[in-house]
Amino acid sequence: MADGASGDAFVAFERVQKSYDGETLVVKDLNLSMPKGEFLTMLGPSGSGKTTCLMMLAGFETATHGEIKLDGISINNIPPHKRGIGMVFQNYALFPHMTVAENLSFPLEVRKIGKADREKKVKHALDMVQMGAFGGRRPAQLSGGQQQRIALARALVFEPELVLMDEPLGALDKQLREHMQFEITNLAHQLGITVVYVTHDQTEALTMSDRVAVFNDGRIQQLAPPDALYEKPQNSFVAQFIGENNTLEGVVTAMKGDTCEVKLDSGEMLDATPVNVSEVGERTRVSIRPERVEFNKDRLKEGAHTLKAEVLEFIYMGDIFRTRLRVAGNDDFVIKTRNAPDQVRLEPGSQIEIGWLPEDCRALDAG
Ligand SMILES: Nc1ncnc2c1ncn2[C@@H]1O[C@H](COP(=O)(O)OP(=O)(O)O)[C@@H](O)[C@H]1O
Ligand SMILES: [Mg+2]
Repeated sequence: MADGASGDAFVAFERVQKSYDGETLVVKDLNLSMPKGEFLTMLGPSGSGKTTCLMMLAGFETATHGEIKLDGISINNIPPHKRGIGMVFQNYALFPHMTVAENLSFPLEVRKIGKADREKKVKHALDMVQMGAFGGRRPAQLSGGQQQRIALARALVFEPELVLMDEPLGALDKQLREHMQFEITNLAHQLGITVVYVTHDQTEALTMSDRVAVFNDGRIQQLAPPDALYEKPQNSFVAQFIGENNTLEGVVTAMKGDTCEVKLDSGEMLDATPVNVSEVGERTRVSIRPERVEFNKDRLKEGAHTLKAEVLEFIYMGDIFRTRLRVAGNDDFVIKTRNAPDQVRLEPGSQIEIGWLPEDCRALDAG
């Protein structure tokens, strides 16, 4: 199924647009469909429209145009509490005057669930996040990580099929954040719930998700599993936004099916895979990941174009070596090599030749 088609999708956005002021569109043309049980992350810079999309799905904002469907049914006119969606926000939003157990009981009361049933579900949800002993405390008596766990339990307590999370780990320190990333994905898969997760942290997006939707300027730039996003970016925004990336600018001089030839602005030639260039004479930005650059000529294909490079800086990082080069007038060309017993440590000041396989070098739009 194409990315945009909704078919038997569990969650679907169809040609959704959103304007807050009636003039500018902050969500421009959103088409997205998710199967049940998927963990999908919306990743993008601040202001790119992620929270707005989540709020429309939750029902706290209305779409200006287009349709949002849940399990095949349009939910545009269904109020938030009837959508059966759990939500977790960055600032926890726990009620400070209620105990933990009362916080969890609240969404059940709203749904008119009886007392005995409520107590059972609250206990179960607290056990799920390993907070069974904390039901009597107030939020202020908990650490940030514990509060976040309670917020998660509260989103899960009424057993929603869909849970939305908006930067839920943003306030936690690195170690706790990584631990919670692991807990959230585990729990989601165990319970078989569908999750839409929002973050601006690419590592979080890559490590947690089945698929990632990269947002910029109110549009999805690419929607793909983490490995495809990193290895096969479809445009120069995605190539720049995800992971470390070297870019060289030039003009397409020949199209040869699977490969194209690019003349860099510095005058040198290279081979690349045409991604979103199609014509000779078109300007392009070629993109090469630091770990795909080769300076051992034996490992390159016969006849492959190579570029001259000057070593500017060698940084020992333990597991890897990070070397900065001057390549085709670019002083920020980085290569990464694994610290293996036979690996060469490049000397600053030395002149080398570098190359790569054309499939690792992607000719993208000029940005
Ligand atoms: N309630 C609102 N009223 C008016 N403009 C808003 C509102 N919420 C968000 N915006 C604007 O919409 C754009 C997208 O915001 P948002 O969806 O919060 O992005 P993100 O979550 O990706 O940072 C931004 O330009 C923001 O200023
Ligand atoms: Mg946001």
